[in-house]
Amino acid sequence: QMNSQTDLFAASGLPELAKSASACTRCPLYSDATQIVFGEGPEDARVMIVGEQPGDKEDIAGRPFVGPAGQMFDEQAIAAGLDRSELYVTNAVKHFKFVQRGRRRIHQKPAASEVSACRWWLEQELTAVDPDLCVALGATALHALTGNGAGLLKRRGGVEKTRDGRPVLITVHPSYLLRLPGEEDRARETERFRDDLSRIPELL
Ligand code: URA
Repeated sequence: QMNSQTDLFAASGLPELAKSASACTRCPLYSDATQIVFGEGPEDARVMIVGEQPGDKEDIAGRPFVGPAGQMFDEQAIAAGLDRSELYVTNAVKHFKFVQRGRRRIHQKPAASEVSACRWWLEQELTAVDPDLCVALGATALHALTGNGAGLLKRRGGVEKTRDGRPVLITVHPSYLLRLPGEEDRARETERFRDDLSRIPELL
């Protein structure tokens, strides 16, 4: 399916956007990261999945959601009947933010100023892909998409509007599931996450 936005603005298609983003210096995060991790997926995807920011593995691979959180996402997406190759998958912030501890690079939550600087790219991805539905994985994505990331657990499962008026399904971040200490809690929350994702087809 073609969309009129990309027809009109062919110069701002995804490959061109990804190329310009690779030279981004809009916030300081570019200086320590290995490379930009731009979104990936079909330009005509009906669903845009938005995470927080690339992690260690993504920073090295240059691709979103390929590490442990990505594996969790893929497993639950498949269980929910989704095909990742049909989804556009991206992050609110496109460079890995970390502190070095010995040989380990520890993930740091992006600052509001970094989320805000990187919205430049997210908004252009929204224009290029023109999805019918966004899915916010966690508070940072929710903040970037709606302008307010507060109270995630109360809003999860709900459908709100992005700043540009698209429906956004709210759920938790897969790494939240990986961090839950109790096995029972983790199983229950993982099932809720899968239930959230399985609502995507009916919301289209
Ligand atoms: N966590 C995210 O939010 N995005 C990724 O791409 C990987 C981990």
